[in-house]
Amino acid sequence: MALNLRELQEQALRELADISDNEGLETWRVRYLGRKGALTQVLRSLASLPLEERKALGAEANEAKVVLLQGHVSASGRLRGNLTVLSKEAFDITLPGRPFPLGRLHPITQVIREVCAIFSSLGFQVVEGPEVEWDYYNFEALNIPPEHPARDMFSTFWIDFAGEKGRRMLLRTHTSPMQIRVMEKTAPPVRVVVPGKVFRYEATDATHEAMFHQVEGLAVDRGITMADLKGTLFEFVRLLFGEDRKARFRCTYFPFVEPGVDMAIDCFLCKGQGCRVCGNSGWLEVLGAGMVHPEVLDRVGYDSGVYSGFAFGMGVERLAMLRWGIEDIRLFFQNDIRFLRQF
Ligand code: PHE
Repeated sequence: MALNLRELQEQALRELADISDNEGLETWRVRYLGRKGALTQVLRSLASLPLEERKALGAEANEAKVVLLQGHVSASGRLRGNLTVLSKEAFDITLPGRPFPLGRLHPITQVIREVCAIFSSLGFQVVEGPEVEWDYYNFEALNIPPEHPARDMFSTFWIDFAGEKGRRMLLRTHTSPMQIRVMEKTAPPVRVVVPGKVFRYEATDATHEAMFHQVEGLAVDRGITMADLKGTLFEFVRLLFGEDRKARFRCTYFPFVEPGVDMAIDCFLCKGQGCRVCGNSGWLEVLGAGMVHPEVLDRVGYDSGVYSGFAFGMGVERLAMLRWGIEDIRLFFQNDIRFLRQF
């Protein structure tokens, strides 16, 4: 019996070494270690033996069982290893990689950053301010008292909130209130640009949105003149729209500047000939500007006898629409990936 056991173990191990798949391994396990397997039968037959023999053979049979169990474990490990090799070989290194989807900046953000970078290079600081604003900063400090007709230029979203002495809040209708906030906090000279959201209570159409973006500019120092305004904005136009872009200024009215101007650039689609985009005029209006009104300077404690300055404000959506030939402002805010991924 002892001999049989050793033979049994050796035969089992020999067979095990040749097994190359899981099916074979399972057959082997049933044959040697299963309930009706060879080893189990040896163990069962022990019961009928005298005590001494039973002890000796029992110990040997248990050892054999341990050896076969270990053999089984390592054989199944070896088969798993084969699988890993297979799946490693199945990886085709000549396939192109999976594309990694990259996000990008919203076109409006891109234009804002470009405009700010240009003015940074001209010595302007970039600052931001609150979108919920006091009546005082949005209107009063900019020479627009409560009953002033210029308030009609700005259809306003009022906030249902009354501060001290009836001070009212609103969603800022332009970035100009930041002119006041900056000057209140800083002594001249001042050179800042202010990008940000503004809000108008208006019906939406292809050229109007209730929310859009502006970049405000302000420069105040001794001896600043209209020539500085024009020089700065000419340079800006060349840097943003190209070397040979022309710009023209025409008088217009904003209560917080004197004189006030509109700046237009020659239409780069038709080169000034007149087309659909420029409304046949050959010119595209891009911003409002002017020399800061002396009363605005005096109100923040700047001596208008000593200091002067210029300010400008531009609509970012308009710049983006001109640059890319976009015909509907609403496209910017529909979050349609088919539109946005083009920029
Ligand atoms: N705030 C004005 C507007 O929204 C633009 C502007 C800014 C005009 C600064 C003059 C000076 O229309």
